[in-house]
Amino acid sequence: MLRRVNFYSICIAFGLSVLLILAGSRYTDNNVYRPATESRRNIKNYYRSEDSDEIYVQPIPTNAFDGSPDVEKILEKTRAKIKHELYNYNFNQSNVHNLEDLLLESGGKPVRSIITSTWRSGTTFLGEILNAQPGNYYHYEPLLNYGIIQIRGTPESDKALKTLKKMLHCKYEGMEDYFEYGKTHLHQFSHNTRLWDHCKYKKELCFDADFTSRFCKLFPFQSMKVVRVRLRLMKQLLEDKELNVKVILLIRDPRGVMQSRQHRNFCQPSSDCWKPELLCADMISDYVAAGRLLQKYPKRLMALRYEELALSPNSTTHKLMKFLGLSVSPSINEFLVLHTNVEVAGVSSTFRVSKEVPFRWKNILDFSYVDEIQQKCKEAMELWGYRIADNATHMASKDFDPLDEYSITP
Ligand SMILES: *[C@@H]1O[C@H](CO)[C@@H](O)[C@H](O)[C@H]1NC(C)=O
Ligand SMILES: *[C@@H]1O[C@H](CO)[C@@H](O)[C@H](O)[C@H]1NC(C)=O
Ligand SMILES: *[C@@H]1O[C@H](CO)[C@@H](O)[C@H](O)[C@H]1NC(C)=O
Repeated sequence: MLRRVNFYSICIAFGLSVLLILAGSRYTDNNVYRPATESRRNIKNYYRSEDSDEIYVQPIPTNAFDGSPDVEKILEKTRAKIKHELYNYNFNQSNVHNLEDLLLESGGKPVRSIITSTWRSGTTFLGEILNAQPGNYYHYEPLLNYGIIQIRGTPESDKALKTLKKMLHCKYEGMEDYFEYGKTHLHQFSHNTRLWDHCKYKKELCFDADFTSRFCKLFPFQSMKVVRVRLRLMKQLLEDKELNVKVILLIRDPRGVMQSRQHRNFCQPSSDCWKPELLCADMISDYVAAGRLLQKYPKRLMALRYEELALSPNSTTHKLMKFLGLSVSPSINEFLVLHTNVEVAGVSSTFRVSKEVPFRWKNILDFSYVDEIQQKCKEAMELWGYRIADNATHMASKDFDPLDEYSITP
């Protein structure tokens, strides 16, 4: 009797374990295409990247899942969606007649832009403004796998620039390092919302050079953000007539940058990240490069201070879009209303990017640290128009405006 009970309980336990294993495998088997089970919360975790800026804005999901893992179908639907979204778009702004003129797929040339900056300078925010434009493909931090380093010259720059060029041409073959890194750092892909809309349900799509290349070629607007390559080196990309890329140099007050970097432990082992003198040497180098490059390519380089973007997001964004040769789509205005304190038609926003954000360092940093930064950054701050705080009282006072005029002269 007792033996029989034991036998049954062993049977039941065994049965239950099999069921549990089966259920578990549904969640680990990557080949199972299962759109419904992936929660927003899971996806959100991928955004906690070491590169995200203080003003963090969740990317707008686009191109909702359509239930099909069929690559041809995904491409077909995306093609149709882009066409639909840009139906009323004025292509004159981009100096072309129609959408096809901007598509690599049909032998056209996309509108390409690169935001070049350094860590914690507002690039995530700016990148997401540009990505709010329909038909944009967002090459987010192609050099994440290089770690926390700055690329200032050869030999690293040769390979890095080649990677940037290949991506802007939507040629992903031979980029094993990039894909290998992305497999364990999904935020490399997730900021590219229009691609991620498909790979969040089937990650392999994002690791597939062939799919990524074909998908990328459907998009008329191609934006990229890079925080590891100094402007001087971007000359090579500006020189490339075929690429016809425009570059936005994003600069931020070194005191704001250093305060923002304090939050993160990712900075500590890397002197490129925690030494203000290295940050500011790069700011000087960027200033000199900007002067030279603006002479040669006045219509293809724009320097922008993050503080100006945060203080006047609407007018700065409009100016930026004009520079890039893009019409401001309603979705960009929507983005600004949702994420900044721009008011449109009397609707007040959620004040996510308040006017205080760029100057938060004034209330957080010790004056002794600010003084140290200022001493090491005197020249860089003078060039980029950032005023020195004289003492702790001065720094904290309402009258102290850290922003001064500046101009870029070669
Ligand atoms: C675009 O420009 C062409 C000629 O340059 C003009 O005929 C056309 O009306 C313009 N289209 C729009 C939407 O402004
Ligand atoms: C945003 O800026 C543009 C161009 O400067 C302007 O035409 C528009 O009225 C502005 N919108 C708001 C809400 O301020
Ligand atoms: C602090 O700096 C301000 C502005 O330069 C100056 O007027 C003030 O006297 C200074 N205070 C002290 C305690 O040094």
